[in-house]
Amino acid sequence: MPEPGKTPWSGRFSATPGEFQQVFGASLPVDKRLYAEDIAGSIAHARMLARQGVIAASDAEAIESGLLGILRDIEADAFVFDIADEDVHMAIEAELTRRIGDAGKRLHTARSRNDQVATDTRLHARRMALELAGGISELRAALITLADTHPAVVMPGYTHLQKAQPVLFAHHMLAYTWMLARDFRRVKHAYKAADVLPLGSAALAGTTFPIDRDKVAHELGFSAVSPNSLDAVSDRDFLVDLTYACTLGMVHLSRLAEELILWSSGEFGFVTLDDAWSTGSSIMPQKKNPDFAELVRGKTGRAVGDLTALLVTLKGLPLAYNKDLQEDKEPAFDAVDTYAASLRAMAGMLSTMRVNEDRMREGALGGFMAATDLADLLATRGVPFREAHEIVGRIVLDCERAGRTLQDLTPDELKAASAEFGDDALSAVDIDAVVARRDTFGGTAPDRVDEQLTLAREALGRDSAWLEERLGD
Ligand code: ARG
Repeated sequence: MPEPGKTPWSGRFSATPGEFQQVFGASLPVDKRLYAEDIAGSIAHARMLARQGVIAASDAEAIESGLLGILRDIEADAFVFDIADEDVHMAIEAELTRRIGDAGKRLHTARSRNDQVATDTRLHARRMALELAGGISELRAALITLADTHPAVVMPGYTHLQKAQPVLFAHHMLAYTWMLARDFRRVKHAYKAADVLPLGSAALAGTTFPIDRDKVAHELGFSAVSPNSLDAVSDRDFLVDLTYACTLGMVHLSRLAEELILWSSGEFGFVTLDDAWSTGSSIMPQKKNPDFAELVRGKTGRAVGDLTALLVTLKGLPLAYNKDLQEDKEPAFDAVDTYAASLRAMAGMLSTMRVNEDRMREGALGGFMAATDLADLLATRGVPFREAHEIVGRIVLDCERAGRTLQDLTPDELKAASAEFGDDALSAVDIDAVVARRDTFGGTAPDRVDEQLTLAREALGRDSAWLEERLGD
């Protein structure tokens, strides 16, 4: 327990903050998750101070073993954080001093909480970026497996949520892998943005002590050292980058969640979510609800709010550190936690759901989705496309009035609409043939989707290799 009312700045003060001020000013409930990074940063700092002759080697050793003891206690849940300590940095330093005495008071030489918090947060952001990268990869793998195990399933493709042209289910699944590949790139960018050491900037202007920043950077695994102390203690762009990556990632998950919600409805019936990923109703016995997909969609609103909150916090801040910056962590951590959990939920739903191939095919036969191909056929036989469009439009209208599909038509009926149709025109409306004809790069023909599957797998492989390399560091 800290001494009641004692603060690190008590030398200059004649009154101490009351309980309200303590709680209002504290960030401990949010930043205590930085404990491991705080301890790693302090050990690297203390070692460097000793190497540079700023503190005695024996003090650095006492600091290091004291901090490792605190780390063990926190991880064993045997450490009580006290809100009177305000933040994780002061809580750990105060406890260190209680444990090892004067050596603990030397740790803060040539350092300020301003460069300390920036360092801890960057270390944490890097770690979170890698965790998210892992979550994105797992979801990509689940989508690739779905595409791989359902190579020939035809489903309706939509524009305006109206049936448009048939596509392969695998093609639809792979569409999301490309969104997720871009999400991976954004998370990777956030990792790189965080990968710069601010420690050594001290409060704002640097320090009078002969420190070695490169050594600290090397020890903490940072790729670079910040070149401007004022920028270093006030820059939170790396958190914006990370939060933005989470927010746009959530927007993508929300789109996929919306599809699962629609597809699992009785009206669509394209997929059946596993019972473990569904909920029932307290009043309607027949209900099976896609709550988890709805929650992913709903939580996306929170993530968008987090990004907005962070950006508005930074707006208008003069150099260098301002206490406003303490408000950076809550939205950023919330966005990260929300995204990480949502990635897991989506992967869980997708890898356990049943794909109702017959319902998808049935859906692809309705809706006159071969109409474009009928018009294309006339166009290849010399009918100007605008005229062909008109002729097929009339065929669709007649079918609709009679309650028939294009596949119900006879060759004679087609020839009556246009002599150019010939006897073989019905092949134009065969739903598998319609899909197979979209045989351009990126199209939905089976061999093109197969080619795309290989590309998606290769892209995932490259990203996973990058991640493995970082995790191995
Ligand atoms: N808890 C503070 C934060 O999160 C740490 C830095 C405080 N620095 C200061 N000069 N008051 O930003």
